[in-house]
Amino acid sequence: MSESIQIDPSLGKKERYQSLIPQLSGLMENEKDLVANMANVSAVLKEVFGFFWVGFYLVKGEELVLGPFQGTVACTRIKYGKGVCGAAWKEGKTQLVPNVAEFPGHIACSSESKSELVVPGWKRGKVVWVLDVDSDRLNDFDSWDQEFLEMITGIIP
Ligand code: SME
Repeated sequence: MSESIQIDPSLGKKERYQSLIPQLSGLMENEKDLVANMANVSAVLKEVFGFFWVGFYLVKGEELVLGPFQGTVACTRIKYGKGVCGAAWKEGKTQLVPNVAEFPGHIACSSESKSELVVPGWKRGKVVWVLDVDSDRLNDFDSWDQEFLEMITGIIP
């Protein structure tokens, strides 16, 4: 198992994602612990893309509870259906939000966060956690981010 990730910083975003996915698979192939894998995925995404905040919330009962992340201190609990994360859980669909100020009910853990992408993670047909990525710039995520972050959530064992 490789415990380091090598990404050529001169690559464009799409190429960095393409180079990252097999390396992340390698990093996680012998590790079945969800929290350990979430911790490494957060670290890698922060390091490679410099996202303002990247991390996970886990479904626990009627709430999402903060899991492994990289970035500033964040809200610890989010109710079902609330905020961008709660919407991704309730709808079972990725939420791509170009301007968080225009998302009804957005939960501002940090006033720096301007755009956001939240991808649900599944187990046996149910959303069991979400991956949340925040940017301090408006409109910072596009369909490539959505496609590749959905792929990455799909390879977390
Ligand atoms: N903005 C999120 C809350 C989590 S933080 O961004 C880390 C939301 O509206 O669900």
